[in-house]
Amino acid sequence: KPEQKMGDMEEMEGHMNHVNPPALNDSTEENELAVPPLLEPKDGSYPITAQQGTTELFEGIQTETYGYNGSFLGPVIRIKRGDAVTFKTRNGLTEPTTFHWHGLDIPGKGDGGPHQIIEPGETKYVKFTVNQEASTLWFHPHQKGITAEQVYKGLAGLIYVEDENSQKLGLPDHYGVNDFPLVFQDRQFDDKNQLNFKAVHNDDGTIGNTLLVNGTLNPKLTVGAEKVRLRLLNGSNARNYTFKLNTGDSFQQIATDGGFLNEPLEMSEITLTPGERAEIIVDFSRQKSDSDIALLNEEDTILLPFKVKKEQTNSAELPESLNDYKVTDEERSLSVSKRLELFGMGKHVTINKKQFDMNRIDFTQKQGETEIWEVYNKPDPMGGMIHPFHIHGTQFKIVSIDGEDPPEILQGWKDTVAIEPGQTVKLAVKFKNKGIYMYHCHLLEHEDNGMMGQVEVN
Ligand code: C2O
Ligand code: CU
Repeated sequence: KPEQKMGDMEEMEGHMNHVNPPALNDSTEENELAVPPLLEPKDGSYPITAQQGTTELFEGIQTETYGYNGSFLGPVIRIKRGDAVTFKTRNGLTEPTTFHWHGLDIPGKGDGGPHQIIEPGETKYVKFTVNQEASTLWFHPHQKGITAEQVYKGLAGLIYVEDENSQKLGLPDHYGVNDFPLVFQDRQFDDKNQLNFKAVHNDDGTIGNTLLVNGTLNPKLTVGAEKVRLRLLNGSNARNYTFKLNTGDSFQQIATDGGFLNEPLEMSEITLTPGERAEIIVDFSRQKSDSDIALLNEEDTILLPFKVKKEQTNSAELPESLNDYKVTDEERSLSVSKRLELFGMGKHVTINKKQFDMNRIDFTQKQGETEIWEVYNKPDPMGGMIHPFHIHGTQFKIVSIDGEDPPEILQGWKDTVAIEPGQTVKLAVKFKNKGIYMYHCHLLEHEDNGMMGQVEVN
């Protein structure tokens, strides 16, 4: 089965090259990978401040950056299903921002879309009860028209949701030891090693030749000779990644955007478009201690070299069964109730021939009711582009892609789905909460250019 999927992926790559991303430079493994701090609650809430600062990415040089609770990127917020959680969000920037929780089932008023502006100096509290499966989610700004720039400068962090299932499965979960978040972002530094977004901005996605993983330039990661869980996030504005191991070995995918797959899936490579996540298990106990092992991108660029420690650690077997995800017969029998057509490029991107308007509600839906959204990526005369389609405030199921069952890697909870030109994807969408939610292309420049709409859930 993986063979067939690789075929699909290759086809995807072919379509994608409208953007023709420049090659990334290889990692020269100079720096140990930064592991983001786990955020501890204080006085009953998680304090999160968006701020600006400088970061020494290149030796002896300060680069101007943004970050959450620090100068660059953000912490990991670990929460558990059933918990009542409060985020204390503060804007320490000199421009407005919002705090959007990508993948979180949260009432619309706390979702942090473009309506929930936080002015410089302002603090707001977001309260909700965690009501979804164990998963790896993330947070980033969503300020209208400048999301791409704020993310590019460094505003992004992670959310780990745990639940009873994740705590009893016996998966590697020792944070920073055998369980690592890996945030992949490409950047272009100018001749003063600064991130000059306006100079490199591209309406079809700003891309760079320099990879940062968790904000680390030229990273390497030291791991034990054991099974290690890697939580991959494509946090880039526009670049897609196809991850594989230089040894040609396979790895096990265990989770999609919003939860575990039903069982570990053996994969030799995996493609993520902007906004998507996957959790994989790499078994480093199979590695000879002095052999080189690294995560590569397509074209064999070295993304992340690993140093495997000599000590053999006990590596328990992975459980055979992880989840009970299923598209039900009822969901399959529902007829389409919302049709969306993604179209265009650059400044002319649209959904259903319209660009985003803060004052227009495009769709309504009833809380707790499942509807089928049919999303079509209409090709243009030049072929078109892949659009990673994202819906706020929910995890959806992919019912079909061009009338067929989705590949196994997409048989799990998703909040972002890559749609190729000409493809039609049917999604079963249910909102547990009320409020106004965005749906949009997660190529951040397309989002900023108006490839976004709003659904009101009541
Ligand atoms: Cu990850 Cu509307 O965003
Ligand atoms: Cu797009």
